[in-house]
Amino acid sequence: MVEIIFLKGSELEELLKPEILVDEIAKAFKLFSEGKTVTPPRTVMWIEGNWWGIMQSYVPEYGVGVKIVNIIPANLERGLPTIQAIVTLFDPVIGSPLAVMEGGVLTALRTGAASAVSTKYMAPREEGALAIIGTGYQARYQLRFVSTYFKPVEVRIYDVREEAMNSFKKYAEELGFRVVKCSSLEEVFKNARVVIEASTTKTPVIHGKYLEPPVHVISIGAHIPEARALDDETIKHAENIVVDSREAVLKETGDIRIPLEKGLIKMEDIAELGEVVAGKKTGRKGGGITIFKSVGLAIQDACAAGLAYRLAKEKNIGRKIEL
Ligand SMILES: NC(=O)c1ccc[n+]([C@@H]2O[C@H](COP(=O)([O-])OP(=O)(O)OC[C@H]3O[C@@H](n4cnc5c(N)ncnc54)[C@H](O)[C@@H]3O)[C@@H](O)[C@H]2O)c1
Repeated sequence: MVEIIFLKGSELEELLKPEILVDEIAKAFKLFSEGKTVTPPRTVMWIEGNWWGIMQSYVPEYGVGVKIVNIIPANLERGLPTIQAIVTLFDPVIGSPLAVMEGGVLTALRTGAASAVSTKYMAPREEGALAIIGTGYQARYQLRFVSTYFKPVEVRIYDVREEAMNSFKKYAEELGFRVVKCSSLEEVFKNARVVIEASTTKTPVIHGKYLEPPVHVISIGAHIPEARALDDETIKHAENIVVDSREAVLKETGDIRIPLEKGLIKMEDIAELGEVVAGKKTGRKGGGITIFKSVGLAIQDACAAGLAYRLAKEKNIGRKIEL
């Protein structure tokens, strides 16, 4: 008899707190960059004009995770989440399915954790503001996770939708942050030591001319080859560019593909987060601009799912279902 555990989004929130998840995600990045995981590139499908991904990975100690995920931007007008997903976890040795989990919350948690790892190794020590461009669903998780390593004097926000800024402001103020709504991109970067881009833009929103180094820029949007969130100036003046996976960013985001083609950067200058965690590459070198660009990796899902499964069993959380 095979018994699986079914975990809801609220249970994942409860199990995967930043203080537990961030170090585990750092470990998974290290294993990935050392070639110790099995992580084929994700399969991307365009269905009814929207992006769908199948993401699979085996991460030793965590298990085999497979996620089916979609991004439906028009869902914002329907009052539905932009990202919906399901994650399944399997035992790597005997092959049995172990768990099925809600994938939207898991994605936001593991993406927040990756940004937090980059902040730990790359954010400047100087105090200042945290700027967030794009204040939708991911932004809340980004704020919670990144602020465990960088305590901002204030949070400056910018979004093209006023209602998104208003509801994010309320959320962040309830967590105890001082929040400044900005009416332009020029304003949002003032005194920012850490910048998070968490938007659905296709054209650059991070403009090098507005950045005030030392600053660490995290960009989680622009995940298709034609889209960019970072402009040429930002890329050209960065003292360090770190990505989740060289192979994935080259294929999947205009933020790296286009500057490489233009000759603004060279592949050998780009480090992976796992190499920084392992101490093989430097995170922050001096007082300039550093960039962490992520498109999202299946190792993050397998790691977060494996951890959630282990903790759920220990704490007897989740619904058990016989297959
Ligand atoms: N790298 C990863 O691992 C990873 C994981 C999950 C999501 N993402 C990406 O994160 C981004 C945000 O996802 P979400 O779930 O929060 O979506 P969302 O729709 O909830 O929020 C996106 C926000 O961006 C705003 N926006 C769009 N264009 C903008 C612009 N030009 N300037 C300022 N704001 C703008 C929208 O108004 C919206 O509020 C998406 O691009 C998504 O693909 C990346």
